[in-house]
Amino acid sequence: MLISIGSMAVSFAALVVVLLVYLPSARRRVAAAERALRERDAENQALAGRLIVAQEAERRRIARDLHDDLSQKLALLNVEIDLLATQGIVDWHRREQRFRRLSRAVAEITSDVHDLSHELHPSKLRPLGLVTALDALCRDLSCKYGIIIDFHHIGGPVTHDADVCLHLYRIVQEGLHNVVKHSSATHAIVEVEVGSAALDLRIADQGRGFVPTAAAREGIGLVSMRERARIVGGQMIIHTKPAGGTRLGVRVPTVAERSREQSARVVSIRSAMHT
Ligand SMILES: Nc1ncnc2c1ncn2[C@@H]1O[C@H](COP(=O)(O)OP(=O)(O)OP(=O)(O)O)[C@@H](O)[C@H]1O
Ligand SMILES: [Mg+2]
Repeated sequence: MLISIGSMAVSFAALVVVLLVYLPSARRRVAAAERALRERDAENQALAGRLIVAQEAERRRIARDLHDDLSQKLALLNVEIDLLATQGIVDWHRREQRFRRLSRAVAEITSDVHDLSHELHPSKLRPLGLVTALDALCRDLSCKYGIIIDFHHIGGPVTHDADVCLHLYRIVQEGLHNVVKHSSATHAIVEVEVGSAALDLRIADQGRGFVPTAAAREGIGLVSMRERARIVGGQMIIHTKPAGGTRLGVRVPTVAERSREQSARVVSIRSAMHT
């Protein structure tokens, strides 16, 4: 009896020691986890705020493009047509010149509408596929901003579905806009490499580069690119440093690889349950 009371006292003392040693460190771990959660929450809120501000800025830009540019051009066109109707020009050569001027103005407006609608949604993507749409995007931006953008397609055809392709297209669009806006580079390279296990997307420039931790607080472009990569089951990696250019890579597993990975995971969970 005496022995069992003694051993109970020893176990109780051991329990007290264990609690005294582990409780504070467990408390510290919980407090650290809570702090990290609060920080993540604050970051998410700040990001949501920046997203709304950016959305509004984008709407303002589209409204400005529509109002200051397109509607002004249409108003001018209307005046030209009115004048042509009332002036009753009989000289066929002068009349032809005026019609040609009108035709050029209409072509310019058509191209503006095409650019704007393409910016809102890349309509070429679905019928032509990712590779052709990216090739066209590189050519368009190259013409518009006067920088050389080389596009390379390596490997087989892209087999990812349309939603994945739209995210990848938007990633390249933002990546190239960043090259134009921030890098001061005169040359950029976009590569799509389709392998048996993954699709690799690369955007590279030899421009001024940047410090990624500082950039995280600036805009929403890089954040949304990373988020798009995550949504399609891939990940984005950035290699950059001041004066060292920027290389941005996105790797997305192919459909076959993803289902192979999933079945491998199921097998390992099953075998873990049976051991
Ligand atoms: N290719 C690049 N070369 C140099 N600096 C870059 C490049 N890409 C991004 N940056 C830097 O990273 C910052 C963040 O880029 P991000 O795309 O997130 O925002 P942003 O372009 O400033 O604004 P937006 O929200 O309109 O995209 C930029 O302000 C710029 O300093
Ligand atoms: Mg940007």
